[in-house]
Amino acid sequence: MRYATIGTSWITEAYIDGAKSVPDTEIYAVYSRDAAKAEAFAKKHGAKMYFTSLEEMAACKEIDGVYIASPNSLHYEQSLIMLKAGKHVICEKPLAINPEEVESLIELADKNNLVYMEAIMMLHTPALRLLKEGIGKLGSITTAHVDFCQLSSKYPAYLRGETPNIFNPDLGTGCLMDIGVYNVHFAVELFGMPDKIHATARFMKTGADSHGTAIFEYPDKLVSLCYSKVAQSRTPSYILGDEGSIEIESVSKLTNIYAVDKNGERSLIFGDSEKDVLMGNEARSFYNYITEPEKFKAEYEHTKQASLNVSKVMKEIRSLIGEFKF
Ligand SMILES: NC(=O)c1ccc[n+]([C@@H]2O[C@H](COP(=O)([O-])OP(=O)(O)OC[C@H]3O[C@@H](n4cnc5c(N)ncnc54)[C@H](OP(=O)(O)O)[C@@H]3O)[C@@H](O)[C@H]2O)c1
Repeated sequence: MRYATIGTSWITEAYIDGAKSVPDTEIYAVYSRDAAKAEAFAKKHGAKMYFTSLEEMAACKEIDGVYIASPNSLHYEQSLIMLKAGKHVICEKPLAINPEEVESLIELADKNNLVYMEAIMMLHTPALRLLKEGIGKLGSITTAHVDFCQLSSKYPAYLRGETPNIFNPDLGTGCLMDIGVYNVHFAVELFGMPDKIHATARFMKTGADSHGTAIFEYPDKLVSLCYSKVAQSRTPSYILGDEGSIEIESVSKLTNIYAVDKNGERSLIFGDSEKDVLMGNEARSFYNYITEPEKFKAEYEHTKQASLNVSKVMKEIRSLIGEFKF
C-alpha cells in the first residue's frame, strides 16, 4: 500500500513513524503548499514524490491512500478531492466540521468501495477492549467524568496578540474541535448517544472557544465533560459504579487505566503507549480495512458510525453554546 500525506507538521511525522510498523506500507508522496518544504519533507521521510497541487497528487496512479493532517476547515474539501480520485482516506480528527459533510463523504467512499476513516487513536488501541471489560465489572454505573485539559503551547502566542491556527475559528479550530472531540468520542464509544446534552463554553478574543464543559444525560447515568486549551489538568477521568471505579489518565490515548475496587485497591488495566505505537494502531486499521474488507467490515462500520455520531454530538454542543462561527 503506497500512501501520501497532506500537512507537514509534527503529527504527520508521528503518523509516518507509526505507519512504519504496518506491513506492506510505504510512504510514496507528500504534499505541501510550499515546494521547498515539500521537497525537504519528502527527502527526510524517503518519499519518492512531492506535490504542491492536490489535484496533481490525486491524479497520481501510484498512490493508494492519503493521510490528511491539515487545519480542520480543509478536511472536507481535501478528503473530497482524494475520494473522488479513487484514493482511500485516513483524515485527522475531526473528520469534517459538520455531520452532513461526514455523511456525504462516507456515502461517496462506500459507493466507490473506498475506506474513509478518522485518525482517532482511542478507537484503534487494544486498551479499548480492556477498558470495556473493566467497565463490565463496575456494577451499576451512574457517573463518569471525562477530562481533557491541555495547556496549548500556542497560548503564549495568543497572549502576545497573535492568532495561531489552533485559535483561529476560520480554520475550524478551537478547544471543542481540537480537544473536546476526544471527550465526546470517549463518552459516545462507552455510553452511546446521550438522550440530552447541556453545554457551555468561554471564548477568546479571536472568536475561538478556549474551554468548555458539557453534561450528557442518559436514563441511568450522568456524564460530565471538561476540556480546555488554556489550563492543564493533572487529575484522571473516572467512571463510577456501585461495585468499583475506573480511572483513566488520558482519554485520547487510553493510557494508564486503573481499576479501583470497593476497598480502594488499585490495579493496572492498561499502562502507557508511545505516540508512534498509537498512530501505528490506526495506520494498521487503515491498512486492514483496505486489504481485508470482509474480515474487518464490522470494525470499519463501527468506526464510521462512531465518527458520524460524534460529529452530530459536536454540532449539537456548538448549537447549544451558540457563539461558534461554524
Ligand atoms: N491525533 C493527534 O494526536 C493530533 C495531534 C495534533 C493535531 N492533530 C490534527 O491534525 C490536524 C493538523 O493539526 P496541526 O496542529 O498540525 O495543524 P497546523 O500545524 O496548523 O497545520 C498542519 C499543516 O497544514 C498546512 N497548513 C497550515 N496552515 C494552513 C492554512 N492556513 N491553509 C492551508 N494549509 C495550512 C501546513 O502544511 P504546509 O505548510 O506544508 O502546506 C501544516 O503543516 C488537525 O486536524 C488536528 O486536529 C491530531
